[in-house]
Amino acid sequence: MFPNVDFTTTQAYKYLADHYISINEKSIKDLFAEDPQRFEKFSRQFDDILLDFSKNRINDETFALLMQLAKECRLEEAIQSMFNGERINVTEGRQVLHTALRNQSEQPVIVDGEDVMPKVKAVLAHMKDFTNRILSGDWKGYTGREITDVVNIGIGGSDLGPVMVTEALKAYKTRLNMHFVSNVDGTHIAETLKNLNPETTLFLIASKTFTTQETMANASSAKEWFLGSGAAQGDVAKHFAALSTNEEGVASFGIDTQNMFEFWDWVGGRYSLWSAIGLSISLGIGYDNFEQLLQGAHATDVHFRTEGFEENIPVILGLLGVWYNNFFDAESHAILPYDQYLHRFAAYFQQGDMESNGKYIDRNGNRVDYQTGPIIWGEPGTNGQHAFYQLIHQGTKLIPCDFIAPAVSHNAIGNHHQLLLSNFFAQTEALMNGKTEEEVISELQKAGKTLEQVEALKNFKVFEGNRPTNSFLIRKITPFTLGSLIALYEHKIFVQGVIWNIFSFDQWGVELGKQLANNILPELHGSEEVTTHDSSTNGLINQYKAWR
Ligand code: F6P
Repeated sequence: MFPNVDFTTTQAYKYLADHYISINEKSIKDLFAEDPQRFEKFSRQFDDILLDFSKNRINDETFALLMQLAKECRLEEAIQSMFNGERINVTEGRQVLHTALRNQSEQPVIVDGEDVMPKVKAVLAHMKDFTNRILSGDWKGYTGREITDVVNIGIGGSDLGPVMVTEALKAYKTRLNMHFVSNVDGTHIAETLKNLNPETTLFLIASKTFTTQETMANASSAKEWFLGSGAAQGDVAKHFAALSTNEEGVASFGIDTQNMFEFWDWVGGRYSLWSAIGLSISLGIGYDNFEQLLQGAHATDVHFRTEGFEENIPVILGLLGVWYNNFFDAESHAILPYDQYLHRFAAYFQQGDMESNGKYIDRNGNRVDYQTGPIIWGEPGTNGQHAFYQLIHQGTKLIPCDFIAPAVSHNAIGNHHQLLLSNFFAQTEALMNGKTEEEVISELQKAGKTLEQVEALKNFKVFEGNRPTNSFLIRKITPFTLGSLIALYEHKIFVQGVIWNIFSFDQWGVELGKQLANNILPELHGSEEVTTHDSSTNGLINQYKAWR
């Protein structure tokens, strides 16, 4: 197991703290002026993905010190520990092997003395066969009709990944209409079922544990709806499949375990789209495309595992994030895809990143005295430009941003893609360069403003600039490149967890709310006044009871 290092005690951290003082006085614009090789130096190409990280508040020294920080934190050992199947998810006593799910090499992956690759391949073969039978129409519903609609019922990692990927790869859509129900709010399932026919609908109950309250409630309602249509209990097997690690739970829910697609406790929920949880992806875009997605992710795994730190994109991204988080006190990080298909990408990595690195206890069990995971947020450009970019450009907070765009669009309509990309290029330039007072004055004068008007307006129109950005330019969003991109972000999260000395693969922080909801649920029955909580919680519950 790799050692627990408090990164704030490393030499590199001390040097970085000093170095920060000098770099903080420089603008990125100055750094470009100082170094004509800056783009070549601070960009990396990996297959069809170009990462330009030159518009960051770094110079050669920063880069070298960040690399030193990674070395002092023993990142190399940590990476190998994960791939080698050590139980790095210590608080749950589990390995972290989502990389095995997309392992395309002939190398075995050993868990408890056993190579798991045959099992992984058997589930993939089952998924392939099932996908092909549904798509070909060979699989029939209980009245003999083909399946036309698939409803994935799951939440968190059993929902966000499949939703994000099926949206991102809609250009590869099969004939099936995909639906996703996650929220326990009855509105979600009610609205979804409104337009569906039970005879032609397949439900995938996606839950690693098969105990999650929201998913179980939605699955039961789906089953009731199905049986209410005149179908018999025996017909459930034709319309319900389970994606889970919990065979007993699946059987007791009444799903034929022949229709169960298994995965294992060494797959974290938020890293599970590569597992049986990806069945909705396979149905939505076809199995061959799902396999391409796995291949793309595997290519990134090889890159992450074998490249030196200076060439290693997840390492670079992770360290840049640490630089802003811990030295510039940036509290959030925006992910801004210039691709409508990627409209759920930031939402997906909200769970991926925040559930992984939103921790204040370090790997020694002590409270940290530094910042850990950032707030992840974002929406697709150009919509974001007309919503929240004002604050990124002229607000008081430093918000490092990732811009992501494909060079080739799936929908080459008129000059839409050029319009989109001109915005993509312009935004990072604007965020870096800003607009000086002199430029503003000259613009206002040219527009015919009087001296007084110029004086009154100028401060509002100045942009300080110096806002850091990464740009991902991707040849085209394909299953392969998307798989690679997702895996780059996954490994970035891993890198940061190692540096911050936290456990990235548990999620105890989501438990308390679940426990309290279970305590409150019985109190919502009946009309007695509730007095067991603080006055706020009592007051809210009692008003709810009065109004319902
Ligand atoms: O939100 C907590 C969590 O445990 C996530 O980590 C997970 O992705 C989600 O719930 C769903 O869990 P399950 O797949 O077991 O239903």
